[in-house]
Amino acid sequence: MGEHHTKTMAEQGRKLLAWYDLNARALPWRVRGQVPYKIWLSEIMLQQTTVAAVKDYYLKFVEKWPTVQALAAAALNDVLKAWAGLGYYARARNLHACAQLVVAEQGGVFPRDVAGLMALPGVGAYTAAAIAAIAYDIPVAAVDGNVDRVISRFHCIEVPLPLSKPLVRNLAQAHVPTLRAGDFAQALMDLGATICTPKSPNCENCPWADDCVARARGLAGVLPYKIAKKKVPTRYGQVYWIENSAGAVLVRQRAMAGLLGGMTEFPSSDWVETKAEFAAPLDLQWRHTTDIVEHTFTHFKLELEVWHATHETPVLNGRFVAFADLANEALPSVMVKVAAHVLRQR
Ligand code: ADE
Repeated sequence: MGEHHTKTMAEQGRKLLAWYDLNARALPWRVRGQVPYKIWLSEIMLQQTTVAAVKDYYLKFVEKWPTVQALAAAALNDVLKAWAGLGYYARARNLHACAQLVVAEQGGVFPRDVAGLMALPGVGAYTAAAIAAIAYDIPVAAVDGNVDRVISRFHCIEVPLPLSKPLVRNLAQAHVPTLRAGDFAQALMDLGATICTPKSPNCENCPWADDCVARARGLAGVLPYKIAKKKVPTRYGQVYWIENSAGAVLVRQRAMAGLLGGMTEFPSSDWVETKAEFAAPLDLQWRHTTDIVEHTFTHFKLELEVWHATHETPVLNGRFVAFADLANEALPSVMVKVAAHVLRQR
């Protein structure tokens, strides 16, 4: 460590824990002695998703499926339905597979070490570390984007992310105390989320301000530098809104593998890189408005033209669902947008 580190790593850890004892966010999964099942569930939901978006989904899941045995016994389709809107649906399929594996092969007990946790479906290095620390107080650093930022600033790392990742990881690990590793992990997350924020960090209230090197050098609101990401491309498609005279619309289930796997959709064309002429999937009277439904996925932005037709019997391997029952379907957000767009015009 540099000469400006007058305090030891252990002292830094104690300061952060003292701050956390007074300032921890009250989150529904943060209960003293929380069972590993609920910590695992919350960490899977929190992958790539904000605390605010996760809260209600977490509460719904633990009410429906209070134990790993209950979740393992659920139908995958019910899990996908409950997950609908949260995004990154591979997480829901892996969640279900993981629950079944833990029940069938591990007696319903989650592994107590990082390697065992990482072997589970849907659990990567970050999530394994977070669960190990929070559920079992194993002294490992869980380094997410918030922690990248806090550590990069505290040590004033001017190497851009992701090049600096190994360095950040090692420094974070060096801060982990031998006791209260779970609280420490969550304290770092909270510090990053509430004080050491991306644009204008609230250094006045930061327990690490005295020893923060970026702050001393006027770089606290600037670091970490990042190698510029490629802009996401746009893809284009046509979605087919086929309704019958009873007020129901045609839906079908997407293939299990791939984007939005297993979720419910309104049938659509392929999503392609250049806008194509309308190609009717069936010989019906097609109408459309000029409106476009837009949705941004991780790797591309989608622009969907909505085409309407009326037909009385199921086609395209689909089934009819009454408009009023769409809320019970495993519709991903993009398909909710399509339905909202169409039904708003009634
Ligand atoms: N992000 C990921 N895991 C978290 C947790 N346990 N608490 C708050 N934010 C988080």
